[in-house]
Amino acid sequence: MLVREQVWLEKELLKRKFTNIDALDASEEILKEAEKKGVYKNCFVGVLGPNQRLQLADSCYDAAIAVGVFTLNHVKAEGAMDEMARVVKSGGLVCFTIREDVMFEPEYGYQDKMDELCRGESLEACIAEQGTVPQQE
Ligand SMILES: C[S@@+](CC[C@H](N)C(=O)[O-])C[C@H]1O[C@@H](n2cnc3c(N)ncnc32)[C@H](O)[C@@H]1O
Repeated sequence: MLVREQVWLEKELLKRKFTNIDALDASEEILKEAEKKGVYKNCFVGVLGPNQRLQLADSCYDAAIAVGVFTLNHVKAEGAMDEMARVVKSGGLVCFTIREDVMFEPEYGYQDKMDELCRGESLEACIAEQGTVPQQE
């Protein structure tokens, strides 16, 4: 919640008038910082990963966005991408960044999980774009 990517995401969402936004992170400390920003309606502690079910109903969000989460030494695909897809409504958006250097590392399972979710119709389409988060002005 503290670094450049998150600040960029918050700015972009607010610019587009999205104000009904919740935050989820495994760290209570990080969420305390997030609460102070006044951007998020609810802040939940939740762990993404294998055999971890978020305390959230199916299809309860229009979109789930993760930046800086699927990255080196952080969250692998198994369970995490599944849960993001589960909590988003049909026709909604599941968006995440994946750091380039681990994108195709089998240990992280990103490509296989995206393929699996698309095959199973949990995700309708995966659009991959290569890029970087812009520098803050
Ligand atoms: C590199 S930081 C990025 C934070 C923020 N999204 C950003 O871009 O500024 C990674 C975040 O993922 C959280 N995290 C790590 N493992 C997690 C897990 N298994 N489930 C949920 N959050 C996790 C950390 O607590 C940390 O806030």
